[in-house]
Amino acid sequence: MPMPKRAAQAFTAVLLAASTVTALSHTAAAADTLGSAAAGKGRYFGTAVAANHLGESAYAGTLDREFNQVTPENEMKWDATEGSRNTFTFGNADQIVNHAQSLNMKVRGHTLVWHSQLPSWVSGLAATDLRSAMNNHITQVMQHYKGKIYAWDVVNEAYQDGSSGALRSSPFADKLGSGFIEEAFRTARSVDPNAKLCYNDYNTDGVNAKSNAVYAMVKDFKARGVPIDCVGFQSHFNPASPVPSDYQANLQRFADLGVDVQITELDIEGSGSAQATNYSNVVKACLAVTRCTGLTVWGVTDMYSWRSSGTPLLFDSSYAKKPAYDAVLAALGGSGSGGGDGGGGDNGGGNNGGGGNATCTVSFAKTSDWNDGYNAEVTVKAGSAPIKGWSVKVTFAPPQTVPSVWNGTASWDSSGTVMTVRDASYNGSLAAGASTSFGFTAMKNGNNATPTVGACTAS
Ligand code: G3I
Repeated sequence: MPMPKRAAQAFTAVLLAASTVTALSHTAAAADTLGSAAAGKGRYFGTAVAANHLGESAYAGTLDREFNQVTPENEMKWDATEGSRNTFTFGNADQIVNHAQSLNMKVRGHTLVWHSQLPSWVSGLAATDLRSAMNNHITQVMQHYKGKIYAWDVVNEAYQDGSSGALRSSPFADKLGSGFIEEAFRTARSVDPNAKLCYNDYNTDGVNAKSNAVYAMVKDFKARGVPIDCVGFQSHFNPASPVPSDYQANLQRFADLGVDVQITELDIEGSGSAQATNYSNVVKACLAVTRCTGLTVWGVTDMYSWRSSGTPLLFDSSYAKKPAYDAVLAALGGSGSGGGDGGGGDNGGGNNGGGGNATCTVSFAKTSDWNDGYNAEVTVKAGSAPIKGWSVKVTFAPPQTVPSVWNGTASWDSSGTVMTVRDASYNGSLAAGASTSFGFTAMKNGNNATPTVGACTAS
């Protein structure tokens, strides 16, 4: 049966999407940089970037060598992109996105709807106008970057600190009510269905009233089919706000709701071995949670940190690697650090194996289901030996189509019913017993059948 035109279009979209999300090659030798070591664990390791420093050779050199994901620190915020109503300015953010794309780095989009760095013209609008301005802002910004963004922080910091569990006062919450969050996510999905849509916040890193409120929101969204793919945990730590002892458990409980989790703005004030140990613990927590897909530190160098005096980053003001750098590299299983904090041992075993006894198994779960479509996640688990790559065949009941695939590279047979998904370059290498996952959206087109997932092939 020839592939129907609609399926063929969807197939093209899949390939385009796959090509933008899978490439994560790196210029340095394997596993001796943060990015390459993280890739060996099926994760990315990124940093916030400021466009005005990209012309500095030490800054750009460190960025390009060490990281494989970037988040524009300020350049995609509302005040930077739409300072005047319906006049959009993308120059500074484009610089960062172009830089990242030229090096196959992922980009996290930060951020679409936030009470801060919000131009006064937005705050002054009445409800109806504000709603259309919010939806227009999301639409125009996401459209401009369509296909180039791995994940968007759709809504940032909507909840209050403290014990109330309530939304914080903002023009959006005050005038549109709590439904603004759902509306923002629905609008975002309609603009770029291939970007992961995240809720991002701080002081939600452990189990507390604020994270409980976010948890309840995500649970409700998943139950009602409101599109949400991930939750970002900013992770700004210092002695007054240390890494919580239940950090990993908190990440895991969100992951168990069926969303990815990401460490989005990591910085830890301090120095020496204490700072190194804290960093190591954060990395190990992420690695221990299968759906923790990556970490982003909030800046390249202490010199340009938003809280520079607390020296919270991995490179000092001369771009020298700090003990915290060594600890992170060691926790990621990287080489060349000399072992750092003595932590290590997160997943056991290296990642460079493969060969004769490479095996893997798969499990399938529908993560959401609505009238005319569903999302699914396929978890791939390495057997008793490390593997370098994997592939899985998924057979669909016609006339189902698949408009989007993530964390994998899809190809189709000539009938348009059998999709083979290979690892994306960043999640092919798995330690013995370790797992990763890929996902897809399928349109039912009148057929409600569950697809058949074949055996996993490992290399
Ligand atoms: O660019 C102007 C410059 O022209 C002017 O001379 C200078 C004078 O103050 O200000 C500069 O803009 C500053 C901008 O950073 C760029 O450096 C703003 O004043 C300053 O407010 C802004 O701070 C940013 C802050 O968000 C604003 O809320 C920080 O760089 C940025 O790191 C920080 O990032 C946030 C995340 O987006 C959300 N989570 C918390 C995180 C830390 O606060």
